[in-house]
This record gives sequence, structure tokens and C-alpha cells, in this order.
Amino acid sequence: MKNNKKVVTLAYGCQMSERDAETLTEITRHFGYSSSNDLETADLVIVNTCCVRESAENKILGKIGELKKLKERNINVKIAISGCLVQQPGVLERLQKRAPHVDIWTGTHNLHDFHTLLQRVEQGEKVAEIWQEPKVTSEVAPLAEKGKLHANVNIMYGCDNFCSYCIVPHVRGRERSRRPQEILQEIESLVDSGCREVTLLGQNVNSYGKEFSPAYDFADLLQQVDQIPLLSRIRFITSHPKDLSDKLIETVAEGEKVCEHFHLPIQSGSNYILERMNRKYTREYYLSRVQKIREFIPNASLTTDIIVGFPGESEVDFEQTLAMMKQAHYSQAFTFMYSKRSGTLAAEMEDQIPLDIKKRRLQKLMSIQNQESLEWRKNMIGKLVEVLVEGPSKTNPERLTGRTRGYELVVFSGNLETIGSLVNVRISEAGSWTLIGEVELA
Ligand code: 5AD
Ligand code: SF4
Repeated sequence: MKNNKKVVTLAYGCQMSERDAETLTEITRHFGYSSSNDLETADLVIVNTCCVRESAENKILGKIGELKKLKERNINVKIAISGCLVQQPGVLERLQKRAPHVDIWTGTHNLHDFHTLLQRVEQGEKVAEIWQEPKVTSEVAPLAEKGKLHANVNIMYGCDNFCSYCIVPHVRGRERSRRPQEILQEIESLVDSGCREVTLLGQNVNSYGKEFSPAYDFADLLQQVDQIPLLSRIRFITSHPKDLSDKLIETVAEGEKVCEHFHLPIQSGSNYILERMNRKYTREYYLSRVQKIREFIPNASLTTDIIVGFPGESEVDFEQTLAMMKQAHYSQAFTFMYSKRSGTLAAEMEDQIPLDIKKRRLQKLMSIQNQESLEWRKNMIGKLVEVLVEGPSKTNPERLTGRTRGYELVVFSGNLETIGSLVNVRISEAGSWTLIGEVELA
């Protein structure tokens, strides 16, 4: 169906939110919309939202405000706000009052029904529909965009862990896994249309399939995905340390396409804080998992997420987090100031940490991690690494860019014809954020 209409989709937040935004775009494509980046000529603007931290929420509220001006310039443009922010209990009413210019409000559980909302809006209605529970665990619109090298593939939805700071289980519901057959078919069809790298997505991929009988776990899934011809690489996020099994580490070590990269959020290096966070592991247990990874896969890259300023975090607790950064040797860390999310346990805790202390701790943590990351990259100088060529570098279009199996970004000179293929790059320099090198022919 072609109707010459244009949709602009803006995604905020994690890869799951990005993937949801892709699903929404794909649904509109079935109804004749083509995707565009130009807000001024758009017929439909979708904002897929995130609520994991207050800073994301504020950014989105600013964007929704800006779209009011767009609507004043172009009365015909339709505006849809979807995803986590809208799914939070009680938030819709507040948002609707602030933003009467929005045409569609929808949550995380009824993405697949977006076309019915769109049809109603095209007939002049304004709609708000949020399901309290998910009703389907299947993808209606697997993406098969021609020429797309990388794709995110949901393998499970929701989360049962209830870390005390986190809103995700409240907005994405209970954990549920997709059937392996469905996932494998989706990846095969992505590969048919040119995709070479997939990232398997879940809030805690290590507990994939725990409801399946006969038993079938994430390592089993990885082994099967590894067999798909023409696929070059498999990535996965996120791993909860408490569920990281030896079997999974061995599978990553043995898999041909599975990249040797673990995103293993530590959140804090203090046992007291980990307990209050309800993370269900200790720093010692975490370090034993890291040791196991290093033992089986000496060149594995490890990345992490860390929160500073969680309620009750003392200087000593914080020092333990800093010590952890030095012990674990992360190649990269995503660092956050604790952000109070209403409805979570931590929001009710006493001894919330003042903003100035959180800021100071974040600065310190970032400066230590920057040194650690640079150290990690310097250690790669002289090594020959496999890079999946993504395209011209954004900062220097004369050069190409791509990622190593360990997820390090590399900028190198090479041939445009190699885009989409694997090349070997000899690393010559470690830049502030990237590695620099030259292609070496076999
Ligand atoms: N405040 C700060 N950071 C948070 N995260 C999740 N919830 C919060 C919060 N309330 C971080 C965690 C998680 C990452 C996706 O976001 O580090 O791993
Ligand atoms: Fe949030 Fe914890 Fe679930 Fe991750 S594992 S989504 S941090 S509750």
C-alpha cells in the first residue's frame, strides 16, 4: 500500500526501546508510510519514550513541547507518543493535560495494535490506549529492511528481577521468552535481506527460556543461531551477573560467530549497596564470574553499567565501586547518577544522596574509567583484530569505521567495497574514544 505519507520516528532509551520504535515504523510502512528524518514535511511523528532515569524523561518532555510548535505550523501532522514513559501508572493523565496536541498515546504492551490506533486518528479521533498486561509474545513485524547490516532481535520481554531502583519491571511487565523457532526464522529472514550481525535483546538474556519444558536455555539458543549460514556475528545484551552460567561462558568461547563481549552490569562495588539494590550477588561472586570469563576467553571484552549515589551510599561504598573498576578491567562503562523513580522501593528509602555529592562521585568515576578504557585500548596496539566494516567514519569520511568482536570502535583506511564484510585491521593507535589502524590483507 502506498499513500506517499512520511513518518519520522524518534527513539529514546535502550536498544529495546529502539527495537520497539522500529516495529512501529514497520507497521506504518505496511500502511503506506515511508520513513524520513525531516520533521517539517512529516505526516506522522512517533516518539518512543524511555523513563529509566529522570534525565531521559525531561528530554522527552522537552521534545513533546517542541512538537506543539510543529503542529501549529502544520495542523495536519499527527503526533504519537509511545513506550515506557506512557506506560507508567498515572502518567498518562498528567501528560495528556500538558500536551493536548498529541493524537496517539500508547504504552509498551500494545505496540502491535498501533495500526488500529493510526486508522482511528486518520479519521479524526484522538486516542489513548494502554494495556495493563501484555497479550502477545510474538513479533508482528519482523524487520527485513534491505541492506541493513545490523539488527536488534528481541528474544524475551519484561523483567522479574525488581532491582530496587528500576522502573523497567513496572512498565515492561513479567519476563517472557519467545520460542526459539520464531527467533531463528526471524534471523534467517534478516540474513536473507542482507543483515550480517544480530544483537539478541533481553533485560536478562541469561534467564532466557526458564519457563521452557523440555529445558532449553540461552546457551542452547546461541548454539543454534551460530549455525545460521551467512550470518557473521552474534551479540547479546544484557547479562545479569547472578545468572551467568559456566555453560554460557563456554558457549561464547566455542561459538564461531558469537562475539567475545559480555555486558555485565555491576551497578555497585559495595556488598551493602548491592543488597539494598536487590541485585542478588556480592562483589566476590561477581569477580569470580569475571575470572571465569577471563579463564575461558582471555581476550574477552567486558563492559558494565554503574550507578552512583544510590540511597545510603557512603564514601566507603563508593571507594569500593572505584576499586572494582580497577579490578574488573572494563573496556567501557556506562555510568549514571541514581535517579529516583516513583513506584520503586529505592524511591521510598531514607538517606537519599544530595545532588552535589552524586555529581562529584560521577565525575570521579568517569575520570577513572576513562583512564581504564584508554589503558584497555592501548593494550590493543599492535594486535590484529577482526572488524565488521560498517561504512565511512562520521568524523572522517575518508576513512572507514566498524567494530571489533569486543565492541571497540575502530577507524581505519580501507576500501568502500568492503562495507558489510569482515576485514583484519592492525591497530596502530589508541585514540580518546576509538582505535585507529590499517587493513591487513590475509
Ligand atoms: N537511576 C539511575 N540509573 C538507573 N538504571 C536503571 N534504573 C536507574 C535509576 N533509577 C541504569 C542501570 C541499568 C541501566 C540500563 O540504567 O545501570 O543497568
Ligand atoms: Fe531493571 Fe534489574 Fe531488570 Fe535490569 S535486571 S531491567 S536493572 S530490574
